[in-house]
Amino acid sequence: MDIQFVTPGSEIADKTALALIVFEGSVLSGAAAEADQQAAGVVGRALAQGRFTGAKGQVLDLTAPAGHAADRIVLVGAGKREAFDDVGAEHAAASAYGAVKLSGLTVLRVAFADPTAGKPERAALGLRLAAYRFDRYRTKEPVDKKPSILKAEIVSADAVAAQGAYVELAALADAISFARDLVSEPPNVLYPAEFARRVKGLESLGLEVEILGEAEMEELGMGSLLGVGRGSRKDSQLAIMRWNGGTDPAAQPIAFVGKGVCFDTGGISLKPADGMEDMKWDMGGAAAVAGLMHVLAGRKAKVNAVGILGLVENMPDGDAQRPGDVVTSMSGQTIEIINTDAEGRLVLADALWYCQDRFKPKFMVDLATLTGAIIISLGNDYAGVFSNNDELADNLLAASKTEAEPLWRMPLPAAYDKQIDSMIADVKNTGGRPGGSITAALFLQRFVNGLPWAHMDIASTAWKKPSSVPTSPEGATGYGVRLLNRMVADKYEG
Ligand code: BES
Ligand code: MN
Ligand code: ZN
Repeated sequence: MDIQFVTPGSEIADKTALALIVFEGSVLSGAAAEADQQAAGVVGRALAQGRFTGAKGQVLDLTAPAGHAADRIVLVGAGKREAFDDVGAEHAAASAYGAVKLSGLTVLRVAFADPTAGKPERAALGLRLAAYRFDRYRTKEPVDKKPSILKAEIVSADAVAAQGAYVELAALADAISFARDLVSEPPNVLYPAEFARRVKGLESLGLEVEILGEAEMEELGMGSLLGVGRGSRKDSQLAIMRWNGGTDPAAQPIAFVGKGVCFDTGGISLKPADGMEDMKWDMGGAAAVAGLMHVLAGRKAKVNAVGILGLVENMPDGDAQRPGDVVTSMSGQTIEIINTDAEGRLVLADALWYCQDRFKPKFMVDLATLTGAIIISLGNDYAGVFSNNDELADNLLAASKTEAEPLWRMPLPAAYDKQIDSMIADVKNTGGRPGGSITAALFLQRFVNGLPWAHMDIASTAWKKPSSVPTSPEGATGYGVRLLNRMVADKYEG
């Protein structure tokens, strides 16, 4: 979608829907303040007839009065003026888009009824995120099912300033779209080497990207990660992405590690057929880390950051890893495989160890669609965060609030650690059903070598069916990109 910032009173094109973002309690004066006396009449009648109050999330879609330059007037409730924030502006614009995307009109013009409250650049971000669509594999979609809005105009008293403020947010939207695309791609297309190729393509943004194959990982002793990929015809890969934007390019970096299971059948501990197609999304953590590196480079963040992606496919096969096998991880610790479906932690064990061993980062944050149990614990809106470091956890939680990507801290009780002691090896890869997300995190903790570390279990938030937020269409969410980008911007730059 083409986005432009325009000044109030600029000409309204043919086939335009005009969205007015109004506050609760001042809807009519809001409509009038847009200097749209012509619309005020029809708006007044509609308000008198119905229940639109301007409450958050309300949308009232009206035919414009005869002679009006726009074809439709869409009132979007933004809630109370005092509580209106960046995310509120994004959601309001996104709701307007949702109301008219299939209308047949081609231009959406968004105006804040109270221009002093508006955040035009945030409205633009909201539109970009709401208009995201993955339609690469549709060959005959009926035209009435295709979005008709091709262009958005956002009204701003200072269109030049808004355009300037939008530059960084556009980089963010690009990065989130990149992550969503990776998650949406089918698993026959996006296998580990293809994921690695797409990440390599980000070198054009100024990132350094190295790809390790199976022989190199063998050399490093990554028996834990490689064991997961044994049943697959596709080679496992480790992608190492670096952004050196810090004022001292040699300064200690911060690091992010992603679970990239391009498809998770469960392996020999095979999953049931029902819903197994969802396991193409099991690389959502790696996609979020790739998206983060994309935005850091895109907005030239003043930070040194490393992103490591463990890319594998978990398949059953005559040569696949078995329950009962013992593998040796890069850390030297041996792992008894109890369930081959607990594969994400095996991938991360080697990726985390490699990360701390090579880069000695200030901290590591890993993202993973790690456990079904986190969905049972927190439902479909919150991701869980586990950390051995309160400051890091607090920084993640603060960023989560600002960016409205909900996150909840979970415990790492030492007493549960014995659930993953093995009878014949150093550790086993499952700890039984009680506290399944917690024992998964405790497993990871054994591979961070005491570094400040946080683990985000995003199995609950990597995709949405159906969606509960207007800026996140059904499907891949890109969860994590904006939260991490915010944390970096607020706490680790300069
Ligand atoms: N990828 C799954 C976790 C998952 C489940 C993500 C549902 C999204 C939706 C993970 O690899 C897995 O299979 N975990 C098992 C662990 C168990 C075998 C200890 C699980 O959660 O059941
Ligand atoms: Mn699994
Ligand atoms: Zn998995």
